[in-house]
Parts: sequence; structure tokens; C-alpha cells
Amino acid sequence: MCKFLTCLVLACLLFSINVYAQAIEMTIDASKVGPKIDRHIFGQFAEHLGTGVYEGIWVGLDSKIPNTRGIRNDVVAALKAIKVPNVRWPGGCFADEYHWRKGIGSKRPQTLNPNWGGVIEPNTFGTHEFMDFIDQIGSEAFLSINVGSGTPQEAAEWLEYLTTDQPTDLAKERAANGHSAPYKIPFLGVGNESWDCGGNMTPDYYLSQLKVYNRFVRNFNPAQRQNDQMLKIAVGPGGDEPRFTDWTEAIMKAWKDRKWSWDMQGLSLHNYTVVDWGKKHSSTDFGEKEYAEILKKTLEMDGLIARNSAIMDKYDPEKKIALVVDEWGAWYAPQSGSDPGFLVQQNSQRDAILAALNLNIFARRADRVRIANIAQMINVLQAMILTDKEKLVLTPTYHVFKMYVPFQDATFVPVRFDAGTYTYGNITLPRIDAIAARDKSGKLWLAVTNVGPKPVAKIDLKTLGISAGSVTGETLTAPKVDSINTIDRPNTVVPKPIYAKAQNGKLVLNLEPRSVTVVTVE
Ligand code: AHR
Repeated sequence: MCKFLTCLVLACLLFSINVYAQAIEMTIDASKVGPKIDRHIFGQFAEHLGTGVYEGIWVGLDSKIPNTRGIRNDVVAALKAIKVPNVRWPGGCFADEYHWRKGIGSKRPQTLNPNWGGVIEPNTFGTHEFMDFIDQIGSEAFLSINVGSGTPQEAAEWLEYLTTDQPTDLAKERAANGHSAPYKIPFLGVGNESWDCGGNMTPDYYLSQLKVYNRFVRNFNPAQRQNDQMLKIAVGPGGDEPRFTDWTEAIMKAWKDRKWSWDMQGLSLHNYTVVDWGKKHSSTDFGEKEYAEILKKTLEMDGLIARNSAIMDKYDPEKKIALVVDEWGAWYAPQSGSDPGFLVQQNSQRDAILAALNLNIFARRADRVRIANIAQMINVLQAMILTDKEKLVLTPTYHVFKMYVPFQDATFVPVRFDAGTYTYGNITLPRIDAIAARDKSGKLWLAVTNVGPKPVAKIDLKTLGISAGSVTGETLTAPKVDSINTIDRPNTVVPKPIYAKAQNGKLVLNLEPRSVTVVTVE
């Protein structure tokens, strides 16, 4: 009996080793090309919320923390390295209560931030500071204008102040405040979540606002009249409920029936990864069950985009309107001891996997998804950077954004593979995910995520259209799915080099468990 059991255990063991050792065939078809993966899908979001702006970006001119005109140098250097294409600002819900005139000039009133903890808003970080910040990091502006509690005139004047090159009073005021040349504003969000925190509007009510704002809020920058025209982005759906499907239908139908006097170029979509809004998962204290649950939830992004794209296709088969996923990411329970209104959470290897899966979804849907903004850039929700006074730490999500830089404005290349499965309890997920693309210099790039938290994944890589001799790049894994970087231990989750050479015509990639890998194929 005992002998029989030993044999059984051994057989099971051998079988499982064999299953894990079974290579996954992956073929990159480099002879085919798809749409451009717009660099703007790697955008960021910086709201006046918690310490996202104050402390995270702005420390003020008198701070001991090294800064340039009040903006912290360490944060700028870290963000430059991930080539942030655009930053959405000043909100979020905050945008619909923001009055831009309070954030210019030498007298800045102290106001309140009722959405986020009811704290004092010092208005020391305003229009010029934001434009200086994006200039320092080499990025572009995505402004959210106040539709909820502002007026079309207030928004129109903000854009005139920012963009005119004519000697109007507003342009003179801008020059007196330190910037004589007009600013470039490539993206304009017309309201935020207007179905909820942005004013609880019905689709019809919002549409009447949208038409007025889109008619009168103009960009006057001569450099943006022909090429580089500012894209106006309407509020879109915030999930899968029927009210959001109705919303997408209403906006897209109105756009199709539009008159000459208004237009739009983008429809926003917000989708956070949350399993239960009433009882959010912890960002640190979790095991494999929560790992699997969160990743299952995050993969719903694909269906959500597909369903909204299908509605958009009905009214816009030429895909003129971009789907703009301008708030996405994991939203966990507030970190213990933090102000719940500040949305502070840690960031683990689970979030690195989650980020890669979402970026892959956006890349595969690049024909419609042309802008996206992870929420949020610093110290809030799924952040790139966590700061603590004069120190900072780069999160696992930051490293994924850095590894994916070669995909910015690259051309999608199809990749075929049998993803296999990773199962935990009653949750089954694809074990492997991958995208490939060619960058502007012609280099071929492959990003592969091994969702499985245990076995190494062996990939048999084939290429059509080119002969591949080797792969070189970086892989990001961690001791555990809940491994994190902290100020004291900043290097627990950092990318490591990876290299593989073809042998006997075979290119094999061994991917660490729970890992994200980006390589160039040569
Ligand atoms: O990102 C935090 C908040 O989430 C934003 O302010 C709002 O738009 C969304 O509900």
C-alpha cells in the first residue's frame, strides 16, 4: 500500500514537472504590421488629492528638498526616465471645483478641497507651475476643465490666457506672470465623471453642456491651428452598468448628428480595478487568492473597451474618436494610519503584473484606444513614485512603465501563442500574455507577462519575416506576489537583465514566475 502511494506521489510529481516544463510556442509575425501604439496610452494623472501634487511634485521655493522653481528634482528625474507623454491635471473630481484664476499671480487664496479630505488647497501649484512641471519632465498638458461648477466663459478665458499670441489683456497677464509665449495644450477634458462627482448629470444635460463648452472653449495657439490641433475629450462611461452604455450611445449618436458648430475627438472611459467597493482589498496584506481575484478583475478592462468600441463603431466606423482611458489602475483600501481621503496605497509585484496586462490590452486595441492615464502618478492609488519627505521610492508599476518605453509610438506586430492557464480555486486566468511591436528604428520588441505565481514559463520563440538570433532585455520579478519597495528597501522589486541566444535554430526564453519581461529580438 505504502509502495503504491509513493509511486502515485512520484507519478504526480513527474507529471506536474512535465506540464510545467512543457514549452509554450510563441510566434511573432514580423512580416505583418498593425496600428500605431500611441505613446499617449502611457499617460499619467496628477490630481490635487492627498500628497499627489503638494509634497509629491511641489515642495515650494523655500524647501530644503532640492527643487527647480519649487518642483522636486528627484521626481522630475525619475519621470523623465519613463518618458511621460502627457499628464492629466488638475483632476478628477477636483477639476469640477477648480477655478484657475486662484492659481495664478502673486496672491493665491487658501481654498478648500472638499472632495479629498476637506483639506486646505493653497493654490501655490497652479497653471504656470503645472506647465513648468510638464516642461521639466518633457511631457504634454492634458487639462480637465471645470464643467460642474464653472462656466463656459471661465474655461474659455483659461484657454485664451494659456494659448493666445495676440496682445489681449489675458495674454498680457500671462506675460506679467512670467510666460509671454503661448502654451501648447494638446488635450482638453470637458468635465470629469459628469454622471457622478462632476455634477450628477443625465446624458442629455451633459450633452447640452458639452456642445456649449466645445463651441466656445478655443485653443488660439497658432502652432496648433493646422497640425497638432487640441483634442477635446468628452466625458464617457465609468463602468459596465446599463446607464454607462446609454451614456456612450447618447454621446456618440449626438456626435454623429452634430452640426458644424461643435465637434469632439475623444470619449473618456474610467475603469478602476476593484473587486468590492464596500470592502476593498489591501495593497500589502494579501495572498494568492487576492492576487488571482484582482488580476481576474483587471482583465475585465478588455471586454469593457470592446463593448464601448462596438457602440462607437456604429456611429464612427472610421474610428475618428479616440477612446481615452484617462483613469485606470488598482484601487485598494487606504493604507493604515493614512487619511482615507488621500487614497494612499502601497504598490506590489501584483500591480506590476496588473499594469502590464492593461498596457497589453490598450496596445491590442490601439486602433481605438489612443490615450490612457494611470491613476495616479505620485502618492495616490497605483502610483509610479511614493515620496516620504526628502526621499522617494520607485514602485513596481514604475518599472513596468520604464520597461515599456520602447512601445511608445511603436507599430503593433501580431504575436500568436497558446496562453495556457493559471488556476487558483475557481479562478482560471491566461497564464501568459504578450504583445510585440516594431519601434521607429525598426527594432522588434516583445513584452511577455508570466501571470503564474509559481512555475517558470518556458517560451519557444519563433519569428516569421526575420530570423532571430537572440533576445536581450529586462525582467521584473519579485520573491512574492506581495513584494513591495519601501524607502528602506527600495530594491526588492527591480528589473534584472535577461538574455537568450538561439541554439540549433531554437530560441528559448525562461520566464520567472509572476514576472514581466521586455526584450528586443535581434
Ligand atoms: O482618481 C480618484 C478619483 O476617481 C477621481 O478624482 C475621480 O475622477 C474618480 O472617481
